[in-house]
Amino acid sequence: MQPTPANPSLKQIPLLTASQIARFKRDGFLVLPAALDPELCRQARDAMWAAVATHHPVMKRDDPSTWAPFNDEVSGQLKAKQPEIGGDPYFFTEGHRFYVRNGTEPLMLDLAPRPLWQVAEQLLGQGTVVWPAGADASGMTTGPCFMSDEAVSGLASHGVKETGQWPEKGSFTTEEALRLPRTGPVWSTGQGTRGLYCTLPNSPSPGPDYRRAHSDGVCYGRVRFQVTAYVDDLPANSGGFTVWPGSHRRIWREQWQTFLEGEKYTDDNLAERKADGYNDPVIQRIKADTRPVDCHGPAGTVVLWHTKILHIAGQNTSSDIIRQATIYGFMKTPESLPDPLVTDHTNMDIWRDWSDEVRAVDERQE
Ligand SMILES: [Fe+2]
Repeated sequence: MQPTPANPSLKQIPLLTASQIARFKRDGFLVLPAALDPELCRQARDAMWAAVATHHPVMKRDDPSTWAPFNDEVSGQLKAKQPEIGGDPYFFTEGHRFYVRNGTEPLMLDLAPRPLWQVAEQLLGQGTVVWPAGADASGMTTGPCFMSDEAVSGLASHGVKETGQWPEKGSFTTEEALRLPRTGPVWSTGQGTRGLYCTLPNSPSPGPDYRRAHSDGVCYGRVRFQVTAYVDDLPANSGGFTVWPGSHRRIWREQWQTFLEGEKYTDDNLAERKADGYNDPVIQRIKADTRPVDCHGPAGTVVLWHTKILHIAGQNTSSDIIRQATIYGFMKTPESLPDPLVTDHTNMDIWRDWSDEVRAVDERQE
């Protein structure tokens, strides 16, 4: 599939400066305050509240006292509402979190991934990035997916009905035109954002050991960086995307080493899994020696992050703010990154698949 040029009427976020690229390489993340179109952010907030009104009407936009955590009965009922064509329910909840799977709708694509298109090409290389096309009239999306064990298990856990036709284990080759329902794991094919990931006020503490902090997925695959974008103002300590600076290169190196040593994603019988993304020894070391950073900012703030950075959705200690974020991963096309390179050991060079411009920036030059 050829990447489609961006809609020229969409305003593009300015290209990054060399100093911003240096900071991104060094820290593994970069915050762009209020970078998105405020009108599209407003429309995204309205879309969130429209989904709440439809699926959980006891929660009222103008009354924060109704923004209460979801009990298991409510969450169970919402979880059962799976779309006919497969995929996750459009709206689902768990404790203090709720999710709107609207990530393939044009609004959500025009809000963040598409205005970041020129930045994505700047970082990963012109003509090498998968274009987020969204869903067709039948509600299906089509995009490339590297079928690792992890990707295959993601199809099942996100309600993709055709899962039966895929082998239980990954083929470790790219399915060039994988069709997924619009509320399925469309982040695996670059066709949609994850929708809206929201945290209610007064959410519980992650605990001193940040047990749920993790690095997304496996090291091999096509995603190279992700973006988290806020559609409403997000003050500090209000559930912001929280990262451990510099952890990207440590986890990248360790997971590649582990993969080359032969550990499989499906090896969940191992006493110590070195690359499950949550409890890897390297992650324990990072938590012990690095202070996490809470990425916050006004509506429209974007966090760019290397896909391997250690992260967690922060605690929302506010009493009247709902953390509203959308997340999208930019992927390399099969043409620019053929399968043999996806799992090739030369990927120990963390910037191998990035643009010449990124590769040339010295991360100490900031
Ligand atoms: Fe994550």
